Amino acid sequence: MAVGEALRLTSLSHVYGSSKAVDNVSLDVAGGELVALLGPSGCGKTTLLRAIGGFIRQTEGQINIGGESVDHLPPNKRTVGIVFQNYALFPHMTAAQNIAYGLEARGTSRQVTQARVSEMLALVKLTPFGGRYPKEMSGGQQQRIALARALAIRPAILLLDEPFAALDKNLRLDMQIEIKRIQRASGTTTLIVTHDQEEALSMADRVAVFNQGRLEQFAAPSEIYDHPASLFVNTFVGAANTFAGQVTESNGEQLTVDLGEGSEIPARGIGQAIPVGSAVTVCIRPEYLRMAHDTGGIRGTVEMGLPLGAMVVYEIVMADGRAVKIARPRELGANIIAPGTAVTLVPASPTAATAFRAAAA
Ligand SMILES: Nc1ncnc2c1ncn2[C@@H]1O[C@H](COP(=O)(O)OP(=O)(O)OP(=O)(O)O)[C@@H](O)[C@H]1O
Ligand SMILES: [Mg+2]
Repeated sequence: MAVGEALRLTSLSHVYGSSKAVDNVSLDVAGGELVALLGPSGCGKTTLLRAIGGFIRQTEGQINIGGESVDHLPPNKRTVGIVFQNYALFPHMTAAQNIAYGLEARGTSRQVTQARVSEMLALVKLTPFGGRYPKEMSGGQQQRIALARALAIRPAILLLDEPFAALDKNLRLDMQIEIKRIQRASGTTTLIVTHDQEEALSMADRVAVFNQGRLEQFAAPSEIYDHPASLFVNTFVGAANTFAGQVTESNGEQLTVDLGEGSEIPARGIGQAIPVGSAVTVCIRPEYLRMAHDTGGIRGTVEMGLPLGAMVVYEIVMADGRAVKIARPRELGANIIAPGTAVTLVPASPTAATAFRAAAA
């Protein structure tokens, strides 16, 4: 199969009536890359895919595939395969006829079409199912046929809109692995929409996080997780404790933040230097807090400990009632720390906590 083409979105916006579903999005996806679009319901993910596929015409901005503008092209002239959110197969067509559909619509010869259908059925491991109708297949099998149908035209760009939403957990994992395998083998540039952050972080080369139509951050999964660019990304992706605080020391990116109640922690300031006295929101993930006997840190008492398999999660309560979660690896033979125990929590490193200017949030 051909290696996937690069995709470039330039200042893309889409307005329905008076509401802006996609707001000035610019995105550069490399050929062969797997990108996850992550964001809450209604943030414009499906709208973005529909514009790339040519099913709607964006209100503003440009879409380029392989360096060429595709804005004037209808869906069947774009080398884009799409698996819709509800994976609607044509119910009156067999699996094989569904897969052949896009090829026939493009005037592909019968011989080539038949060969391609066999190849696609084998790829999704459903060769014996070619003659079945959608209602005679499980949800997961229909999902794989929908994927085969999208891949049959050998798209330069593959768009998957929440392809696993209807699947149970085990099948979901199988399909995630399967898609990744097919994507690697075919080199197809792939955009996968999800609002499951674990799915995004585990599958994608890069993750694009959206909020209210805007692109908040586009980066590798570890960068999104450890260096979130905004308060939204920090709290939407992964778990985070958030505190209101005030900057007491400022040294470039490195800050010290007073959280009240005699609690003070170091934090990494985002963006421009944040001066002493600024009000900030500090985020720290439960797994990046340590229990310590220092005088600094966050002071509180253990409310309860929850043994969650490999991790133990503690809820700690500060003197003013604010709750803080901390996750620690379970230790063989060690007891869960008793409720009422006084503890001090410190970030695992000076940059483990992130501070965002309160005014900018
Ligand atoms: N055809 C339409 N007419 C008017 N408004 C629409 C239309 N389609 C979507 N919208 C609105 O545009 C916004 C973005 O919708 P979109 O379907 O792109 O969101 P999404 O990120 O895919 O959400 P979900 O995760 O729930 O699928 C929403 O506020 C939605 O109500
Ligand atoms: Mg959607």
